Amino acid sequence: MNNLLKGKKGIIFGALDENSIAWKVALKAKEQGAEFILSNAPVALRLGKINELAEACSTEVIPADATSIEDLEALFDKAMSKYGQLDFVLHSIGMSPNVRKNKAYTELNYDWFLKTLDISALSFHKVLQVAYQKDALKEWSSVVALTYIAAQRTFPGYNDMAEAKATLESIARSFGYHYGTKKKVRVNTISQSPTMTTAGSGVKGFDVFYDYADKLSPLGNASSDSCADFTIALFSDLTRMVTMQNLFHDGGFSSIGMTEAFMTE
Ligand SMILES: NC(=O)c1ccc[n+]([C@@H]2O[C@H](COP(=O)([O-])OP(=O)(O)OC[C@H]3O[C@@H](n4cnc5c(N)ncnc54)[C@H](O)[C@@H]3O)[C@@H](O)[C@H]2O)c1
Repeated sequence: MNNLLKGKKGIIFGALDENSIAWKVALKAKEQGAEFILSNAPVALRLGKINELAEACSTEVIPADATSIEDLEALFDKAMSKYGQLDFVLHSIGMSPNVRKNKAYTELNYDWFLKTLDISALSFHKVLQVAYQKDALKEWSSVVALTYIAAQRTFPGYNDMAEAKATLESIARSFGYHYGTKKKVRVNTISQSPTMTTAGSGVKGFDVFYDYADKLSPLGNASSDSCADFTIALFSDLTRMVTMQNLFHDGGFSSIGMTEAFMTE
């Protein structure tokens, strides 16, 4: 299908390099006729390659630390002065200092834990609240955040990111209620398979559970490219009545108990 997002405008948070899920979403959104601003934390602008992506998408990068209301307000003001009200927002942001610094779950640094929650979960509320207060989103617009099944089941290496994802998914439901009632804005999370990215491979034992999920899922792990396709579908008008959902995009992993292949191994 072509031009699913023709005429639609948005903001895409979280493209760091070509492995990033947000990077793939940006390329596909452009391909489908959307116009958007790219945003990432100022430090990511220095370390990543987002300017290359901006060039490929004929757009600009506006830095914003997603934990800073001030940065988010400036970003939405600029986006609205460029496009008027927006049709979609992608929140593809996650980071845990505890994971990054190899802290065990039973020895968490609580200042870092709060940072994990702020960056990986509260930032989603902040994005939504700034948009809500500025009336930045059109009716029937679509907001998507990325999450992982560790919100429902325990994956030890995922550490305090599990709490962040549980909160993120809850924010999608709660804000989905408020924004839906007020303005018919849709808010959903996509629960994606393990994916080889900077954030993903920072998780301890990532290779092992990547392979485990791949073997257990009837369709295998979902790639970042197919995650981008699903995200585009959620931004499009084909999914207008979908909101307040956590949607598994994982090749069937979340519904599997056991497979014959595993039993005979
Ligand atoms: N890779 C996986 O296995 C996997 C699986 C399921 C869900 N996810 C989720 O997908 C999303 C995107 O991650 P990814 O795998 O593409 O990795 P990634 O490392 O490419 O993206 C994470 C992004 O978060 C940004 N970020 C960190 N702190 C920020 C801040 N304060 N303000 C603004 N941006 C900030 C980073 O700069 C980076 O661009 C994350 O929410 C992640 O948890 C990833």
